[in-house]
Amino acid sequence: MIRAAYLAAEGFEAPLATELTRRGVAIGTWHGRLALSPDPPVHAAWALDIWTDPREVAAPSVKSAADALRAIQRNWAAYSVEHHRRSALILDRLPPVKVRPLVFPQPAPASHLGAWTLLAPDRMLASPTKSSPFVNGACQFHEDHIGPPNRAYLKLWEALTRFGRYRGPGSTCLDLGAAPGGWTWVLAQLGAQVTAIDKAPLDPRVAAMPGVTQRLDSAFALASEPVDCLFSDVIAYPDRLLALVRRWTDCAKHIVCTIKFQGETDHDAADAFAAIPGGRVIHLFHNKHELTFLWTAC
Ligand SMILES: C[S@@+](CC[C@H](N)C(=O)[O-])C[C@H]1O[C@@H](n2cnc3c(N)ncnc32)[C@H](O)[C@@H]1O
Repeated sequence: MIRAAYLAAEGFEAPLATELTRRGVAIGTWHGRLALSPDPPVHAAWALDIWTDPREVAAPSVKSAADALRAIQRNWAAYSVEHHRRSALILDRLPPVKVRPLVFPQPAPASHLGAWTLLAPDRMLASPTKSSPFVNGACQFHEDHIGPPNRAYLKLWEALTRFGRYRGPGSTCLDLGAAPGGWTWVLAQLGAQVTAIDKAPLDPRVAAMPGVTQRLDSAFALASEPVDCLFSDVIAYPDRLLALVRRWTDCAKHIVCTIKFQGETDHDAADAFAAIPGGRVIHLFHNKHELTFLWTAC
């Protein structure tokens, strides 16, 4: 029996598998990037999406498959690994689910969404509930190809969308490891007062934005001080970053921080971040070999 399914981001099946093993969760088999487990669902940072109530459904025909899904609920997202043609035919018979890229700071979709896949031509796995409001965990945005100096802004757009909080005018933000300024650009656009800390300079267009102050300094040399939001995208060993974040939980109201891994994934460090009260660790659709720590003061 399959009691949970965990969707890894492309190329990140291995850290998800290790994380699940560390949590005592067995993986029966993989179906594409979907780890099928006989154990009840648990939070897994490396899963883009978690199918929390999967059941196997007979699908002797395209019509019966679509009817079975429609009998459960309206909105379904397909995860197609094989039998693509048959999946497309089933999809055609389901009510359309509009997948429009978000226009930041538009909130994440609120409508209920399930997920299904064909395990075999005549057998589906369908879960009416899943952890991500996005189809297969893919949080897509209308991109801005002109304003930001790099693509790092997408990561912060997604983190803020997942956080559900936008600190706008009047809020004070510290952006550690800010250069060339994708995150600072996002925060300044929201109207925040941003102090950007990096040993390297910001892109001059970002440095000139209203509300932006630049300091050429090390993030680790900074004395902690009261601030609404602390952001960090600094390249640093996870343990070093953990010490920095712990120090700032005394002074900040919110923290968004990228935990970057070089070589092996440091699962112990990821668990230590997740254990900070008020914090959670997730793998964003826009994250590479890194996790994002989201924290709010309790
Ligand atoms: C991935 S980049 C950050 C990109 C940035 N978030 C953006 O949106 O443009 C990492 C940055 O960390 C900076 N960095 C590395 N060590 C640092 C330190 N000790 N203090 C401050 N910045 C540091 C690097 O100079 C680099 O600009």
